[in-house]
Amino acid sequence: MAGAFSSTTACVVLALLLGLCAAAPAAAAGRIDDGLEVTWGDGRGSVSPDGQVLSLSLDRTSGSGFRSKDTYLFARADVQIKLVPNNSAGTVTTFYFLSEGPWDVHDEVDLEFLGNVSGQPYTLHTNVFASGNGGKEQQFHLWFDPTADFHTYSILWTQQHILVLVDGTPIREFKNHADQGVPYPSSQRMRLYGSLWDAEDWATQGGRVKTDWSQAPFVARYRGFTAADASSAPAANGGGYGQEMDTAAEQAMKWARDNYMVYDYCADSKRFPQGVPPECSMP
Ligand SMILES: *[C@@H]1O[C@H](CO)[C@@H](O)[C@H](O)[C@H]1NC(C)=O
Ligand SMILES: *[C@@H]1O[C@H](CO)[C@@H](O)[C@H](O)[C@H]1NC(C)=O
Repeated sequence: MAGAFSSTTACVVLALLLGLCAAAPAAAAGRIDDGLEVTWGDGRGSVSPDGQVLSLSLDRTSGSGFRSKDTYLFARADVQIKLVPNNSAGTVTTFYFLSEGPWDVHDEVDLEFLGNVSGQPYTLHTNVFASGNGGKEQQFHLWFDPTADFHTYSILWTQQHILVLVDGTPIREFKNHADQGVPYPSSQRMRLYGSLWDAEDWATQGGRVKTDWSQAPFVARYRGFTAADASSAPAANGGGYGQEMDTAAEQAMKWARDNYMVYDYCADSKRFPQGVPPECSMP
């Protein structure tokens, strides 16, 4: 599928929809380790001498990971990632928000990039947990080769909604329906995390394809990390779509979902024989 729709074509389509051809934003002025710190992996995570790139690596012994120095209560986070190239089957590269408090009531917003054998598409797995309630998975293929270059992945988390964006194109919106009884992350501060680890039991083609350790170490690169407070409406709007999307953004999201969504919990009636969760039918 990846080759069927070139990124140039995608960019032209997006240009029509958004009125622009989104280029990756300029790298943050500061060092990436101003905002992020490597927290595990025994030397497998490192920052380039110029401070621009944080690399995570994975071998048979361990993966590695980082976290943000700050915590947030509503934020927009952006990072550029260049994923593990070639045969990345079994590997999982992540970028996510996770609350600090007790696990049974934790909040979490996940982006997990599930590797694949060479030439087959990565799957971007997304999920939202609120007060320990998860099970809201949606998965996507991407309209470009995410290993050939850096691309920008963003999570916008405001009082109104959570938006996931890829190179500025919204692919998923999770609205705040707390007033209708759907748990929503809104009271616990969250920190950002990233990691590269092995999940050959389930990550690639349902666990059928295992990690090829002869390719190790596997390396994923992050750069241009920014996180900005989005607790007040003007701040959230500064990053775009703080409260709601405009028509062009809605159309861009529809394009991404029509063409690249490969799993939606809201459409999984086998999994939910009694009916899909209530937020699936809320406008
Ligand atoms: C890995 O991928 C890169 C670019 O995607 C390519 O240039 C290189 O030849 C590949 N290496 C192997 C061993 O396939
Ligand atoms: C890997 O490639 C297969 C075949 O194209 C595809 O069905 C699957 O969604 C891809 N991603 C993962 C993580 O298995």
